[in-house]
Amino acid sequence: MHILGVETSCDETSVAVIDDNNRILSNIIHTQEVHSRFGGVVPEVASRAHVKKIVPTYQAALAEAEMTLDDIGLIAATMGPGLVGPLLVGLTFAKGLAFARDIPFVAVNHMEGHLAANILEHPDLSEHHLTLIVSGGHTMLVEVEKFGHYRMIGRTKDDAAGEAFDKVAKLLGLGYPGGAELDRKAESGDPNYCKFPRPLIKEPGFQFSFSGLKTAVAIHVGKLDEQSRSQHIADIAASFQEAAVDVLSEKTIKAAQDKQITDITLSGGVAANRRLRSVLGERCDRAGLRLFYPSPALCTDNAAMIAAAGYYRFREDGPSELITNAVPYLKLEQA
Ligand code: KG4
Ligand code: ZN
Repeated sequence: MHILGVETSCDETSVAVIDDNNRILSNIIHTQEVHSRFGGVVPEVASRAHVKKIVPTYQAALAEAEMTLDDIGLIAATMGPGLVGPLLVGLTFAKGLAFARDIPFVAVNHMEGHLAANILEHPDLSEHHLTLIVSGGHTMLVEVEKFGHYRMIGRTKDDAAGEAFDKVAKLLGLGYPGGAELDRKAESGDPNYCKFPRPLIKEPGFQFSFSGLKTAVAIHVGKLDEQSRSQHIADIAASFQEAAVDVLSEKTIKAAQDKQITDITLSGGVAANRRLRSVLGERCDRAGLRLFYPSPALCTDNAAMIAAAGYYRFREDGPSELITNAVPYLKLEQA
């Protein structure tokens, strides 16, 4: 069977075709550049850009897969969490296609999509694993008993990890969204230039907090004169990244040991961060744990992961109803 996936929860318009053997036949991702000048995603602007791009992106996905709609056996689209306007564009488009051509439709939880990216790429990953979901809107440690069965272990009390990366990147003049640029900049910086706080690292439990770390960076930058600020951008980026990665890695290893889980995955946009991948990878090796993460293009928002999650969900629960609506604050536990 071939599955068409549609993702429009934020500022990526993406359509993909995969097959039921986890083979990606196309995964077209159009990132809206228009928001960078506002320093954040403007929901109404995003909705309009999705309306413009959804049909060409869909056509490109079918063309690259060398298929027509006749070859598609299931249509999956993100129903939440996300921005309601953008969600409605992709969801309505997908439901329209499904209705017009009598193809089964399945609604997908975006966070379940992120964790499905690992299942899509790593056939030897145990069904029972721990995932650290780190995206622009979420930071959470989740025990996956098996696909569709989740136990929340910990989450952030304030900012998401990606949000902290983006805010620090903005402070350092690296543009928006600046997580990936900060990752690149940090490569040439000294991670020991400044010892920023590691919030909650020694606290029991698995909560995260990133707003204090972000404020510590802002205070440090505020004290620098123009010249030392521009001289030390890479050092500040590396020092901030080191603190964030240290907390994320430490808590993840502790949670895996506490719950006696040996397989760990990274999911979400920040899973593309090279320092997080290497530090957590080394610590997992030392602790005898296995770490899996998606290839970079499958970490950030994309429709292949939505198609994969849709297919697993369809096998468990069958199709969703065509009256399914967008749910902006949909929780993973509701998946
Ligand atoms: O999963 P995602 O594409 O969208 C959400 O569902 O939020 O995640 C986007 C987030 C942004 O905050 C972006 O700056 C961050 O992921 N990000 C990174 C990297 N690549 C993307 N953060 C740190 N290092 C990266 N290499
Ligand atoms: Zn996402």
